[in-house]
Amino acid sequence: MITLNDVKNHPQILEFIRQTQASMRALDYTEHGPRHANLVARRARRLAQDVGLSKRMQELAAIGGFCQDMGNFLGRTRHHYWGALLFHQVFQDKMDAKDLVMVVQALANHDKEDMKLTNAVSAIVVIADKSDVHRSRVITRSIKKIKADIHDRVNYAVTKSSLAVDTKKKRIVLKLKIDTNFVPIMEYFEIFTERMSYCRAAADYLGYKFSIVINSFKLL
Ligand SMILES: [Fe+2]
Ligand SMILES: [Fe+2]
Repeated sequence: MITLNDVKNHPQILEFIRQTQASMRALDYTEHGPRHANLVARRARRLAQDVGLSKRMQELAAIGGFCQDMGNFLGRTRHHYWGALLFHQVFQDKMDAKDLVMVVQALANHDKEDMKLTNAVSAIVVIADKSDVHRSRVITRSIKKIKADIHDRVNYAVTKSSLAVDTKKKRIVLKLKIDTNFVPIMEYFEIFTERMSYCRAAADYLGYKFSIVINSFKLL
């Protein structure tokens, strides 16, 4: 059975992620390379484990987390579809049909306006991905450039980010530390309302509520 380790060591997958990193750099876009892939994979596995999914589902969530953005080197706007199709091409003869389709669907679903969830792996990948806001995602070097772009500004302002599951209260909690000298919390919301509503829908699918705590204030 294909594991995250196999995926991580596949030369084509690695090249997709490398080229994605280069394309995003060329566009002056936030980081979508190995750092993001590894972090989302780790978060996805942990989240899947914490909400009580099976070992295999945990593995598939980690694989989906690792691969969700690897289609970006073919184009930003449809990257979720490119990633899904590429994954299918690479692993179609190596994975069980059910597992394969679940990952493919999770990739296609992770960034879609008309997202409709039909499996837990997709829901996990959405939360693991959309919760990755952090200073280290900002590629642009100069502070002047960072200040000029709201996405950069908001990511740059986040100095700490963690995701936790409260199984008793049935809550998935995203905790952020934001440098409010750099960006007012309102700006954060301007940018992330859509993302957070994805997270809410995904948490809801899993039978959880989604909360955000910023600088110790519970906002949701
Ligand atoms: Fe994405
Ligand atoms: Fe992503």
